[in-house]
Amino acid sequence: MVVVLGIESSCDETAAALVAGDRVILAQRIASQDAAHRPYGGVVPEIAARAHVALLAPLIAATLDDAGMRLDQVDAVAATAGPGLIGGVMVGLVTAKALAMASDKPLIAVNHLEGHALSPRLADASLNYPYLLLLASGGHCQLLLVRGVGDYRRLGTTIDDALGEAFDKTAKILGLGYPGGPAVERLAATGDAGAVKLPRPLLGTPEPHFSFAGLKSAVLRAHQAGIHADADIAAAFQQAAIDCVIDRTARALAMVRGEITALVVAGGVAANMALRGALEALAARENLRFTAPPPALCTDNAAMIGWAGVERLALGRTDTLSVAARPRWPLDPDAAPVRGAGVKA
Ligand SMILES: Nc1ncnc2c1ncn2[C@@H]1O[C@H](COP(=O)(O)OP(=O)(O)OP(=O)(O)O)[C@@H](O)[C@H]1O
Ligand SMILES: [Mg+2]
Repeated sequence: MVVVLGIESSCDETAAALVAGDRVILAQRIASQDAAHRPYGGVVPEIAARAHVALLAPLIAATLDDAGMRLDQVDAVAATAGPGLIGGVMVGLVTAKALAMASDKPLIAVNHLEGHALSPRLADASLNYPYLLLLASGGHCQLLLVRGVGDYRRLGTTIDDALGEAFDKTAKILGLGYPGGPAVERLAATGDAGAVKLPRPLLGTPEPHFSFAGLKSAVLRAHQAGIHADADIAAAFQQAAIDCVIDRTARALAMVRGEITALVVAGGVAANMALRGALEALAARENLRFTAPPPALCTDNAAMIGWAGVERLALGRTDTLSVAARPRWPLDPDAAPVRGAGVKA
């Protein structure tokens, strides 16, 4: 049974995991830097990079200890090599290179988004390719046809903000702090989504792209009006976002129906239970199976990086020590740029 050491450091979580080929997570540790970034209301790249330097080596040692393993017993070292905050990515990748070189084990440079994209297969052994994936995280909101390892077709993407970003901005407007997604979800559960009228950008348009900037501005205006309860604004925002996601996902399903075995959601926002429920209902209407990883595998973690390493190792797709860290790294490099989109992949 192969065991891969996974390392994640692309944003503000420093994480290490040992993942076995039979999908058992032998050990995993995550050191969150939330407290260091909270005073700034978001992630400060320089603070994150320095924290990764301080945290990563002892975290890896502790993870090996938890599993009762030594470095020479792992079969490969996999690390996020992008996309993400480049300082943090470099810390993780250079650490992985050093460990791979010292132990004479293969290095696997993992695309963080592939980590998210394959995480449902770590959680669910019966999930086969190809599947339709909604990847909704802090930096991305995409609909992807996942045909296999390293084989993605992007059907839709956001032309402005990511969905997680919209949750975080809404949290900031409502004074809920950072990170905002879980706080917005908790407050939304106590509010009336019908009490505040909010727009649903791009609803009904033919291509399954997303836009959340206008929704975010509408949340700000609703808050500034001073007449709505915060819980109602949170509920209305979450419902508007979910309505957009379901409409866009249904469009994407229509494009690949017949090709896919399942509808899958991954990325940090996939931890949102209201979103999962709505996607599950959509899948049921379409007679498709639905899979979502447990919430702890949705937000950034190293187990998903280790698992991507397991899948890549099985195909012999290892990397040389000269592989570079990449701040941007689209899963589908052939996807056409979307009109109105900024620099985000
Ligand atoms: N329960 C929830 N409801 C809504 N959003 C959530 C929930 N839990 C987490 N999120 C959001 O998920 C995002 C974090 O996800 P993730 O860790 O995958 O993002 P990231 O790694 O920063 O971005 P990327 O993966 O695109 O590089 C944050 O925006 C956070 O607010
Ligand atoms: Mg992520």
